Amino acid sequence: MMYLTRRFAFSASHRLHSEVLAANENACTYGVCENIHGHNYRLEVTVAGKPDPKTGFFCNVMELHRIVHELVVVPCDHRYLNDVPLFAGAITTMESLAERMWAAITPALAAKGMTLTEVLLAETDEHWVRLRTD
Ligand code: NI
Repeated sequence: MMYLTRRFAFSASHRLHSEVLAANENACTYGVCENIHGHNYRLEVTVAGKPDPKTGFFCNVMELHRIVHELVVVPCDHRYLNDVPLFAGAITTMESLAERMWAAITPALAAKGMTLTEVLLAETDEHWVRLRTD
């Protein structure tokens, strides 16, 4: 199996707040992250496949770019993520964002023969989450 990764970037604001936690619990859990603040997010999407001998590749990287750009980057870039429909009802942690992004792009990628295997979402250069099928 071969893996291909495309990197994306977008800038957005958010705040961490849970509707099921009391005010003091939100403050204890999220600290300053309960305030509206921003990140320069890094998103890496990895798909898997076997190269087609006719083309030498298993996916068209421009198709991968188009799908993720249209379904994730454009809706998120320079937005307040808590108000973005893609994340409605979610706490905008990296974990939740990655799950919603995964769900948003999987059908379109599959329609083009790409099997999604990992979504990496980084808020900073120091921390990120990786969502995988395994
Ligand atoms: Ni944050």
